[in-house]
Amino acid sequence: MDVLTRINELRKQINRANYLYHTMDKPEISDFEYDQLLKELIKLEIEYPEYDDPTSPSKKIGGTVLDGFQKHTHTVPMMSLSNVFNQEELFDFYERIEKITKDFTVTAELKIDGLAVTLIYEKGVFKKAATRGNGSVGEDITHNVLTIKSLPLKLTEPIDIEVRGEIYMSHEAFKKANEDRLEEGLDLFANPRNAAAGTIRQLDSKVVAKRKLSLFTYAIVNATQYVKRQSELLKYLKQLGFPVNPHYKKADSFESLVEYIKDFDQLRKQLPYDTDGVVIKVDELNLYDQIGYTAKYPKFATAYKFEAEKQETVIRDITFQVGRTGVITPVAELKPVQISGSLVSRATLHNEDYILSKDIRIGDHVLVHKAGEIIPEVLNVVLEKRTNREPFKMIDHCPVCKSQLERKDGEADYYCTNPNCEGKKMFSIIHFASRAAMEIESLGEKVVELLHDLTYIQTITDIYKLENFKDELVELPGFGKKKIDNLLSAIEKSKSQSFDRFIFGLGIKHVGAKIAKILVKNFNDIEKLKAATYEELICIPDIGEQIAISVVEYFKNENNLAMLDELKSLGLNMHYEKEEIKEHAFNGKVFVLTGTLESFSRDQASAIIEKLGGKVSSSVSAKTDYLLAGADAGSKLKKAQDLGVTIMSEDAFKVLINE
Ligand code: IVH
Repeated sequence: MDVLTRINELRKQINRANYLYHTMDKPEISDFEYDQLLKELIKLEIEYPEYDDPTSPSKKIGGTVLDGFQKHTHTVPMMSLSNVFNQEELFDFYERIEKITKDFTVTAELKIDGLAVTLIYEKGVFKKAATRGNGSVGEDITHNVLTIKSLPLKLTEPIDIEVRGEIYMSHEAFKKANEDRLEEGLDLFANPRNAAAGTIRQLDSKVVAKRKLSLFTYAIVNATQYVKRQSELLKYLKQLGFPVNPHYKKADSFESLVEYIKDFDQLRKQLPYDTDGVVIKVDELNLYDQIGYTAKYPKFATAYKFEAEKQETVIRDITFQVGRTGVITPVAELKPVQISGSLVSRATLHNEDYILSKDIRIGDHVLVHKAGEIIPEVLNVVLEKRTNREPFKMIDHCPVCKSQLERKDGEADYYCTNPNCEGKKMFSIIHFASRAAMEIESLGEKVVELLHDLTYIQTITDIYKLENFKDELVELPGFGKKKIDNLLSAIEKSKSQSFDRFIFGLGIKHVGAKIAKILVKNFNDIEKLKAATYEELICIPDIGEQIAISVVEYFKNENNLAMLDELKSLGLNMHYEKEEIKEHAFNGKVFVLTGTLESFSRDQASAIIEKLGGKVSSSVSAKTDYLLAGADAGSKLKKAQDLGVTIMSEDAFKVLINE
């Protein structure tokens, strides 16, 4: 097969995979297969630049770095919508149209909570994307929009067309983006909309590609050239290859419209992205000019805003947290309240500006919701119930080490700049022991806090000296012998935790879990890693300048080196062994875990099984080979017995894993 034929074939396969995965939600090939195809295509395109094509799906991986954004003047202004907040206001909207014509129907679409974008195609080929800006002039965000997997680069028809839609971030992508930020010691995004808006304004499109934005389209500029109705328009967009939200309804009476809105309000709780209302549009496009516009909004459409799931509670106190980087975060300590299925007792107040702009005070009654269904956030104060006359005042000294705080120009955050601040140190210890790092079971946040306050743990090394204080610890309220035994054995076990988790646990700036893995694969021993030079590091794919500098600096610091030596002498593993899957008795076997294991957490046991080639499944079936049963096993044990599945005790498991 000649090269161009192969390139075209790959492009076709990748476009199809993108479409099936991101637009139809029905993937047909695995992530691995997808990556293989993409890699092959990129390789060929580099080798044969003469076959470059601006519509190639390889353009979606990002790479362009801009100095700034160009302005884009909209051919037709991007208007926004009027809002209605209840049935009466919706009825007014409906009635105003009825006064003009009785002969109309409406579509109800979900209002996606993201940011508006306009997409320009020439002869069916994607050319340009811009933000709404002030409605007349927006910013050219073509390079960033290019990274959105569901954006069609080539339409099914070679037409000139301008399409409008919403760029948004799914809950999953939002969670991941915040996890990455947490690892990098950056401020968290408050909600998916902010995250999407912040991402689209990134100058480096590689960062955008990593954050995984999504798209739904819902409008066409000069739509009557193509279709007669909004409901047809949505179908037509889909036919052209655009992602269109599947949840829309056509209503021919006010009553059915109200029903649909109620259904949407239920539905939205299960959706993997944020919506903040329903957009109601007259379906017959030829009525638009007749119904007309106000200065700001069209009169043929409106947005019915959902009530966000919010609850009233009281701020008992405002406390301050010191992060690993020294950033000070004010936190509202709330009277616990149930919101979207969980009990909320704390909510971030972000920073001084946020508190002052909402004039939040201790003792206030406030409305709280969960941003992106995840992060508790104080929305506003119920002023009528206010009794406190004292406005909030930001602290100027670190709540932990009492050193003067600094607020840098142009930043909203205050920082504790004392490198020896105990608050920062405590956060580092929490991170070190955490599930993502050394996974020291029973050494969670609360326990670290307590042992830190009681001065048993001041540094990471102190964790491994705790056993010297066993007799004292047993006496602590809420502990006792069993708990302390468990804690000490978890600490002991963590000494043989993998080297990459150890490196991640150190909290080196910019070194997240993934980079830690890359580091240990390239420098398989702590001594080699200590000696790694900037030049050696920068040559490793995925390691950029920032990371390289940060790693070199970390291992230059005398205190860090002394700590590492001490940890080594305490017996911690600082060596990377290539993982080999041996032919083990567990190889290919399906396990189900039940009950409480004494020496392992479920995650630890699962990891061991998987390392030895086994699989872990959540429910017992005829395909199960072993049920690993701990204490107090329940219904799974019975089912396994009924099905004749081999029951494995924890003791037997321990013997087998050492074979
Ligand atoms: S139609 C004339 N349909 O909501 C404006 N907008 O408050 C036409 N939005 O700027 C917009 N989902 O960013 C329309 N299904 C949908 C939408 C939607 C979200 C956003 C859009 C618009 C804002 C209006």
